[in-house]
Amino acid sequence: MPGTVLVGTQWGDEGKGKVTDLLAENYDYVVRFQGGNNAGHTVIHGNTELALHLVPSAIMYDDVIPMIGNGCVIDPRVLVEELGQIHSQGISTDKLRISSNAHVIMPYHLDLDGASEARLGKNQIGTTKRGIGPCYQDKVARIGIRVQDLLDEHIFREKLQTALAEKNDILRKVYGMPTYSVEQICELYLPYAERIRPYVADVSRELNEAIRIGKQVLFEGAQATQLDVDHGTYPFVTSSNCTAGGASVGAGVGPNRIDRVLGVAKAYLTRVGSGPFPTELSDAVGETLARTGGEVGVTTGRARRCGYYDAVLVRYAADVNGLTDLALTKLDVLSALERIKVCTAYRADGTTYKTIPPSQSAFHHAEPVYETLPGWGCDISECRTFADLPREAQEYVHFLEELAGVPVSIVTVGPERSQTIMKGWR
Ligand code: GDP
Ligand code: IMO
Ligand code: MG
Repeated sequence: MPGTVLVGTQWGDEGKGKVTDLLAENYDYVVRFQGGNNAGHTVIHGNTELALHLVPSAIMYDDVIPMIGNGCVIDPRVLVEELGQIHSQGISTDKLRISSNAHVIMPYHLDLDGASEARLGKNQIGTTKRGIGPCYQDKVARIGIRVQDLLDEHIFREKLQTALAEKNDILRKVYGMPTYSVEQICELYLPYAERIRPYVADVSRELNEAIRIGKQVLFEGAQATQLDVDHGTYPFVTSSNCTAGGASVGAGVGPNRIDRVLGVAKAYLTRVGSGPFPTELSDAVGETLARTGGEVGVTTGRARRCGYYDAVLVRYAADVNGLTDLALTKLDVLSALERIKVCTAYRADGTTYKTIPPSQSAFHHAEPVYETLPGWGCDISECRTFADLPREAQEYVHFLEELAGVPVSIVTVGPERSQTIMKGWR
């Protein structure tokens, strides 16, 4: 079977970029299917380090075709900048394909993202302020502008006129902000159209033709299960479906083309932005995880909130994504801890929950129920087989496997491509 979906199981930044880059050599296509430049995926190989926001994390391979699917939202300024950055590192981007049906982030989406966050005040989501939510809103409201619209000046002007009639009213009357003219945006965006034109393709058709002749496809998720607009900690989520089902819709292939779903889980837990986080730590352990794990956002530079591994979340991710495998990342960071806690259930309102509580208010004040495991107290970043790991580290992995009900097939012990233990992934 041809398709593997890779998804985040927690609140993002699990190391999806690293795992995608690692697996990409066994695939013919690597496809982003949702999200936009709210993502920040880090790929490190040798002396090359890439911080990717829109381009799939397989761009370093000459014989893998990277694609941006229809489910993504694209800020053309950011895309052009990112392509320039990749070029300057000596990597070709010629083979990139961009769906003509992907939606375009417009300048007013950025303004509205910021303004709506400011209006929410203490209830703000803590978005990346990249215009992601407002762009998806327009897609669903059917006044969005797609990549193919950008390529046809006549249509672009017409659609822009329609969109601006509403957007300018909102900007001016609701938020008291400056408005835009069609001319102003055309001047900015039409040059981007010419930069992007060579990459634009019918991604869904190309993928389906490739699958018919036996090609292998890896669908690279951005964000994560708990940030999914349907399955995450709503409203503290992003505006797309980051779970595995999104791959089918966001790339235009049937669900029966996907036979493996790899969930990426960090060996502890982080979150950027607002929202509940039962295992969050505000003590020295939290600081150690943040420092040792380098937990600073790739996209916004914000400090990530840190906490212990939450097995309830990963078990939930196993269900909603249909996980067949887990990749457990950043195990090396836990070497700094003498004892390691794992949340196996929550307690809220006098009830113990082994699954996510049915009401958001119970989840918001859920207290974690912990099991404590011994640490291993030594550097594991040079381990390359599961047997190389100290016994306590092996036991930690086995414990998480059991709690998730899904095998851990990959363990990573450092940011480099080579710092990986293939434990059963074939
Ligand atoms: P993504 O958004 O899921 O792709 O993850 P990010 O790239 O935002 O964040 C993961 C960070 O951890 C990056 O800086 C990676 O280079 C780094 N990283 C990935 N795997 C490992 C690992 O096994 N150990 C350590 N120490 N760092 C890792
Ligand atoms: P990767 O792919 C972590 C979070 C934001 C905010 C919420 C909504 O690198 O894992 P948005 O700008 O999407 O409307 O913000 O989602 N968020 C992420 N957190 N990693 C990401 O991507 C994220 N993308 C969005 O911090 O809480
Ligand atoms: Mg990230």
